[in-house]
Amino acid sequence: MEIPTIRGKLTGMAAPEFIEKCLTSLAEATFVRLTLTRPRTPGLQRVLGRLVQLREHPHLSLTFRYPTRDVTKNIPLAEVATWLRGELPANFKGAVLSTTNGDWQLTPKRLILHPPAKRATPPRSHDVVKSRLLDESAQQWLRRLKVSPDKDRQINRYLEIVAPLANDAHTIVDMGCGKGYLTFALWHVLRVKVTGVEQRTELVAAANDLAREIGATGLEFVAGTINSVELPAADALIALHACNTATDDALRRGVALGAKLIVVAPCCHQEVRPQLGKPEPLADVLRHGLMAERMAEWATDGLRVLFLERAGYRTKVIEFVESEHTPKNLMIVGIRERPPLATRENIERFKAFFGIERHALD
Ligand SMILES: C[S@@+](CC[C@H](N)C(=O)[O-])C[C@H]1O[C@@H](n2cnc3c(N)ncnc32)[C@H](O)[C@@H]1O
Repeated sequence: MEIPTIRGKLTGMAAPEFIEKCLTSLAEATFVRLTLTRPRTPGLQRVLGRLVQLREHPHLSLTFRYPTRDVTKNIPLAEVATWLRGELPANFKGAVLSTTNGDWQLTPKRLILHPPAKRATPPRSHDVVKSRLLDESAQQWLRRLKVSPDKDRQINRYLEIVAPLANDAHTIVDMGCGKGYLTFALWHVLRVKVTGVEQRTELVAAANDLAREIGATGLEFVAGTINSVELPAADALIALHACNTATDDALRRGVALGAKLIVVAPCCHQEVRPQLGKPEPLADVLRHGLMAERMAEWATDGLRVLFLERAGYRTKVIEFVESEHTPKNLMIVGIRERPPLATRENIERFKAFFGIERHALD
């Protein structure tokens, strides 16, 4: 990997040089994206720039990100130089330009070149941002739940994956549903019986009030724990970011309720980390706490996959939203399909290798 090099010295020189790099990368089609950071405008978090094709003309599409909304402005390529020269030095304290040749980071004093994070340019179609499964009528509950832009992206990405898989389901349970963003979203798109389960009674009461208010027939929220709440059989069970071993409780309940589809996106992992051994030849690396932490997460989710396969589910492991939106972006999808694809022996061998004595799914 290249060592970052320092270019430019003074504030006055670095910003114009950075703008020139932007214009060159746009002209030479090496542009990946632009992020303007540390804005002076109160409330504005950052501005994200993508190159898009609009009515057959290239534009720089700028998304101004605020805590609860995005504002988009599309600038024709011929006007980008004027816009950047007027806005960047005056209104932002930092910026990052990603190109396929290298990533340029502008700080108040200098310009730093990093190796490129992406070596290919993204699609230029404007439709990429427009593909939303939630139509305008979803605003009545999205607004009330105060969905942030990041959460909105997460919900839409999640719907893109889950809605087609759950298309045949008549009953869906959302375990550890929190305020019910995804519960409302699934109900909105599929219009089937959707039950959110949540241990925090005040969240359940608020979600039920909102469901009643918008006349959401079939949508209800139940107070209780994933392990013990009383539920009838369900066709699909989902659990997004249920804390620690609550994800395992959800997997177990999904199997017990006879769900044909189980989708979980794990949250924090605490059970395996203290048990994780240092098997050879990984020992030298696992003495680093962070590496051991990540290996424990990997092993926890690996075991979840094996347990699901043991229970007769075909599994897929996918990244459901880009890591810049949430680091908790691993999703395990299980589709019931007998016979079992993993054996108890597979699981025991895996556990023995890492020195894991107990797992919540044992
Ligand atoms: C990080 S939030 C995620 C909420 C929601 N699924 C989402 O993605 O927006 C986790 C939620 O799970 C709930 N939870 C954790 N363990 C639970 C359990 N054993 N039974 C019921 N709810 C639980 C918490 O109270 C919290 O509201």
